[in-house]
Amino acid sequence: MNQPIIAAEDLAYRYPDGTEALRGLTFTIQPGEAVALVGANGAGKSTLLHHLNGTVFPSRGRLTVGGLPVETANLKTIRRLVGMVFQDPDDQLFMPTVAEDVAFGPQNLGLDEPVVRARVAGALGTVDALSLAGKPPYRLSAGEKRRAAIATVLAMEPDVLVMDEPTSGLDPRGRRHLAQLLAAFGHTRILATHDLDLVLDVCPRTLVIHEGMLMADGPTLEIFKDEALLATCRLEKPLSMQGCPVCGGNTPF
Ligand SMILES: Nc1ncnc2c1ncn2[C@@H]1O[C@H](COP(=O)(O)OP(=O)(O)OP(=O)(O)O)[C@@H](O)[C@H]1O
Ligand SMILES: [Mg+2]
Repeated sequence: MNQPIIAAEDLAYRYPDGTEALRGLTFTIQPGEAVALVGANGAGKSTLLHHLNGTVFPSRGRLTVGGLPVETANLKTIRRLVGMVFQDPDDQLFMPTVAEDVAFGPQNLGLDEPVVRARVAGALGTVDALSLAGKPPYRLSAGEKRRAAIATVLAMEPDVLVMDEPTSGLDPRGRRHLAQLLAAFGHTRILATHDLDLVLDVCPRTLVIHEGMLMADGPTLEIFKDEALLATCRLEKPLSMQGCPVCGGNTPF
């Protein structure tokens, strides 16, 4: 086996107000894997993702990204490795126009201007958002903001793509395009989402978090067939695994 791209050992995090959001998670992720992080509201998904680019540091335990401990001295390298789409696009968009927001990261990498322009056009084209290039982010619709936020990360061409609720607010066509894009992406992908059909389409492996604990880690289909686990963790089967409410027909699962 390769060296894991991400390794967490007994990872725990307590917010300053005392909330124990993560209670000792241990797992590894290999380069190139597509892994889903699922769990009910408040389970700890976003808190875990924030650790992956050092927005927060573990209160206990150990976390490495690309073999490097997540600590201040390694943040520059880790943030080049990990591209993070935050749950709230307003945390990601802060420049006067969408194009400037998407260019910001590649410019900071020191890339030449023609390369930056090509990255911006490529990333905006990928999320079907070229027409938004000149608009101020605060004038965008919710789904448009999501597309712009995703483009800012794609433009960085990160080795590890981390997305927190990437399909939230997207229309069905945008959602399908994103699922296809993510399924084809060759690098490591980690998606926290309530969109369990997206998980079925993109992630062969799923981690289930419940109240800050890792309740399951295994093949996605096995996890979604485990009714007791889903009930304990306040989850439901993906729609595509539920019987049709109109005709009563069952799916192949
Ligand atoms: N800044 C904060 N200060 C204190 N507690 C927090 C803070 N942010 C989150 N929490 C708490 O930490 C726990 C985990 O929150 P987190 O945002 O990681 O959940 P989540 O799984 O991403 O939920 P959702 O599905 O709603 O996005 C929750 O109990 C939440 O109330
Ligand atoms: Mg969250």
